[in-house]
Amino acid sequence: MIGAAVPQVPQSRKQYLHYGLVLLCIACILPTRLFWKSHKWRFPSLYKQQPPQDKHSKTSINTTAECRYFPEALAQFVRDLQERPEQTALRDWVLPNKKHRKYPSWHFPGLSSPLLDQTIRGKRMVLLGDSTLFYLTRWMQTLLQNTTQQSPRVVDHLLLGMDMTKGNYAVNPDMDVQLGWDNSTLAKVQLQDGTHIQWLGHRGGSDPQEEDQVCQFDGIFRQIRQIQPDILVANFGLHWLHLIASDPEHGRTVPLCAVQYWLDYQSAWLEQVTQVAQDSQVKLLLFKTTNFMCIDNFWGDYSDAVALYQRQDPYAISRCERTLQRLRDGHDNKHRGETSILGDANLTRYCQKGVFDEWGVKDLNHRVLEYVHQYNQNNYKDTDMKVAVFNDHDIQSCAYSEPNDGRHYHPLNLMRLRLLANVIQCQYPTT
Ligand SMILES: *[C@@H]1O[C@H](CO)[C@@H](O)[C@H](O)[C@H]1NC(C)=O
Ligand SMILES: *[C@@H]1O[C@H](CO)[C@@H](O)[C@H](O)[C@H]1NC(C)=O
Ligand SMILES: *[C@@H]1O[C@H](CO)[C@@H](O)[C@H](O)[C@H]1NC(C)=O
Ligand SMILES: *[C@@H]1O[C@H](CO)[C@@H](O)[C@H](O)[C@H]1NC(C)=O
Repeated sequence: MIGAAVPQVPQSRKQYLHYGLVLLCIACILPTRLFWKSHKWRFPSLYKQQPPQDKHSKTSINTTAECRYFPEALAQFVRDLQERPEQTALRDWVLPNKKHRKYPSWHFPGLSSPLLDQTIRGKRMVLLGDSTLFYLTRWMQTLLQNTTQQSPRVVDHLLLGMDMTKGNYAVNPDMDVQLGWDNSTLAKVQLQDGTHIQWLGHRGGSDPQEEDQVCQFDGIFRQIRQIQPDILVANFGLHWLHLIASDPEHGRTVPLCAVQYWLDYQSAWLEQVTQVAQDSQVKLLLFKTTNFMCIDNFWGDYSDAVALYQRQDPYAISRCERTLQRLRDGHDNKHRGETSILGDANLTRYCQKGVFDEWGVKDLNHRVLEYVHQYNQNNYKDTDMKVAVFNDHDIQSCAYSEPNDGRHYHPLNLMRLRLLANVIQCQYPTT
């Protein structure tokens, strides 16, 4: 019946009163909420996510106009970098703040010598990770070294205001992923002005016999404690994801220790790195997110394997389980025992979710964001060290990755560097 859908008209006075009260409440609450919402941009103390400025706190973060409401501004900035990399990568970025013209709109300076001088020059910096941070380090070293040599301030008038591709060509005309640096040159630059930029980690893929090396960090942690960097940028994730295929020669196998790192990402990796950073008097610890996976650019057996896992192919998953069980129960039984987390159920979970694709990456990055959020809630006042996220994952896109790669984005390195500098500018503790 059609009539059944029409709401009943209230009959008694009591009901009228009831509806009247509800309307009154809506009429009162809604404008108040909107008022607070629109004013949170204007009165920082009213906005909850802004950490309170505590006079007794040992460190404070930069609260100049540019850095206020940093998370919100950053989110919009990152979206713009992702959507229009050519135009936005190197130029100054100002948020069009149409609603409140009178109030300072956000501004992230473009890539220039003054920005690099303010954020990186004179500091000790360690980038800890795999190849995705290694190449970025090369670009950083090139930009900072060159501006102190015969061509001072070259970046200054060269890059600012350029489209990204033009900027890439200016810095790296040969499109060499190492910008002319020799493979054997240590990824470390120390300048007279105190600037120290060093990459530490595992680039991976070099020697299949030593695949366990993607889990070995003791020596690296020792080095970091010696260097005592001001800034530590850390990421490891890609090498702990798998594409285990029908035979070990294809796809992407992993050592068992990678499965353990994946299962225990927080306590085995995030907390370890935090501890090392604290021991090393690091002022700003940035967890880089794991790179975006452009599986459209995968070829051959990577492409075949990723397709199987994306549709959760039961044969692929049970093959993965059996491979890992054999590893666990086989010759390498140092992982056996009561405390092992490598039970069958956890192996299955890893086979399904620790996949070398964008789902696998998103899962790890989610854990990073959660961890940093928790850390800042619990430790905001107790420590000198600031912990934040360097989320370059969200500015990466398929157009800038080579076919048959899908995880490096060399043409985006200037943009990644610029984002890193902007993040340091607002997050580096000012004493
Ligand atoms: C804070 O950041 C602004 C630019 O965003 C910069 O001009 C200023 O020097 C910074 N303040 C400190 C103390 O680093
Ligand atoms: C950096 O310096 C090298 C030689 O010192 C030069 O060939 C290269 O063009 C310079 N790059 C930039 C961006 O200035
Ligand atoms: C540097 O090493 C990479 C792999 O580690 C290799 O692909 C590349 O060809 C090497 N480049 C040079 C110049 O030796
Ligand atoms: C599975 O792994 C988690 C860590 O991700 C661990 O807490 C749990 O104890 C493991 N379960 C078993 C049965 O080993």
